[in-house]
Amino acid sequence: MPASKGKDAILPGPAMAKCIPVPDRKAGTEPREESIEPCILVILGATGDLTSRKLMPALFHLYLSKRLPQPFSIVGCGRTVLDDDQFRGSMSGALHDAGLTDREDTAGFLSSVHYLALQYDDLASFERLAAYLGKLDREICAGHSTLFYLALPPALYAPVVEKLGQVRLASGDERGRGRIRLVVEKPFGRDLASAVKLDRTIHEYFQEKQIFRIDHYLAKETVQNILMFRFANAIFEPLWNRRYIDSVRISATETLGVEHRAGYYEQTGVVRDMFQNHMMQLLALTAMEPPSVFEAERVRDEKIKVHRSLRPFQVDAIKEDLILGQYESGTINGQKVLSYRKEQGVADHSLTPTYAMMKLYVENWRWQGVPFFLVSGKRLAEKKSEISIRFKPVPHSMFSNILGGKITANQLILGIYPDERIKLTFQTKTPGARLSLQSVVMDFHYQERCTDNQTEAYEKVLLDCMLGDQMLFWRQDGVEACWAFLTPILSECESCSDKAKMLHFYESGRWGPSAAEKILNAP
Ligand code: BG6
Repeated sequence: MPASKGKDAILPGPAMAKCIPVPDRKAGTEPREESIEPCILVILGATGDLTSRKLMPALFHLYLSKRLPQPFSIVGCGRTVLDDDQFRGSMSGALHDAGLTDREDTAGFLSSVHYLALQYDDLASFERLAAYLGKLDREICAGHSTLFYLALPPALYAPVVEKLGQVRLASGDERGRGRIRLVVEKPFGRDLASAVKLDRTIHEYFQEKQIFRIDHYLAKETVQNILMFRFANAIFEPLWNRRYIDSVRISATETLGVEHRAGYYEQTGVVRDMFQNHMMQLLALTAMEPPSVFEAERVRDEKIKVHRSLRPFQVDAIKEDLILGQYESGTINGQKVLSYRKEQGVADHSLTPTYAMMKLYVENWRWQGVPFFLVSGKRLAEKKSEISIRFKPVPHSMFSNILGGKITANQLILGIYPDERIKLTFQTKTPGARLSLQSVVMDFHYQERCTDNQTEAYEKVLLDCMLGDQMLFWRQDGVEACWAFLTPILSECESCSDKAKMLHFYESGRWGPSAAEKILNAP
């Protein structure tokens, strides 16, 4: 196609557009992926960290495993002025950093990647984007289908959505053709009021079925498996209630600190960063009732019932059920690490929590009286996300006259990451003449059984957006139900006069504040 002239000459890219060639589909990929239709993926915030660390490696993997639709093109947008080659060079570096180095494949993939500089507060920039996408669409025949991915600071979500709407990019072409979808990264607001406001803005231009609110935890294989494990086996569900379960602990601990995200994290803290989304989803999957059919709306209906059943925190006795912490210096994997307050971009006297432990109750028939402990924090002893179901001890020990003491209760661990496993602990007789019991485990490791077709969370998220499958995405009523529960807690923590006293400091490399350990280890 010849280079364009006149007004259009300011639009780089489409003239060089190429489709990514997709050879025959690999045996074993999900048949439903065959129905992914051609589209253009527009990443707003393409020069940011999320694009280079998560999105591009995920897209490249999908390209390598031939799971991208054909034709398919990526348009990166950002404030920085770059041309296609400069952006491709930087994305090639990102793939290299992610350990993906095959030169030939990289070049093939990057030939379908384009870049358009735009200013997020400037309508003319979005008009240029609309014109650019129109040309690209004609060039590669994407059928007017576009996926807009907001990989942006949250403050830009509303202004960018408004501009997409104003230049008519939210609704396909003038004849209503094409599927237009919007992918929104967390956080969706910073409290209930701002989440509602953001949603109103988005809904001025996009319909609910077009909106994909991401929670990458939901796309993890081990998280998706929770419902399969619970509802495709008849033997666990009868025990999954207050009669047999003593407590549930859901933890997502990290060894990493705040890294270079202080700007975001100082405004967010652990409750908004991890609890409002990932932890609440893990809780819902563990506690929900089975829907009659495995279908996005039915599953999301059941999850929301859990969120709506959470017993509101007693804000006057908040310290009994909530421990907040912040990391001090310490040692992680043999390396000395700085305290949170010494990290670049963090205020000297910051009171931002990097750790939280919450004790929650789901007030319904199934879970009455069963505490759910949710724990998440940075710079802890191990990177470990898991759900631990602690069963009640046997009601009566017929062995007490011989063995004395208590019999260790059964425990079921659903390991999410990096220990992807299901582990059931039970008691057996220790072999030998002397009578004694020992705890043994039945252990299933995903890695031993599933070496092929592992789909990384961001790959799954991107595929589902292209497919229009909202099963693994938040629905707005769920977002609001969780904010309705957490907002009073956040307000209490952030406005109370002894805010500083609520923060427990913990040494990096340990398991968090001792105040939390005491509650977690209480008999
Ligand atoms: C992100 C948080 O959503 O999840 C990060 O913003 C956190 O702060 C990350 O590190 C943890 O995700 P994962 O998949 O590494 O457990």
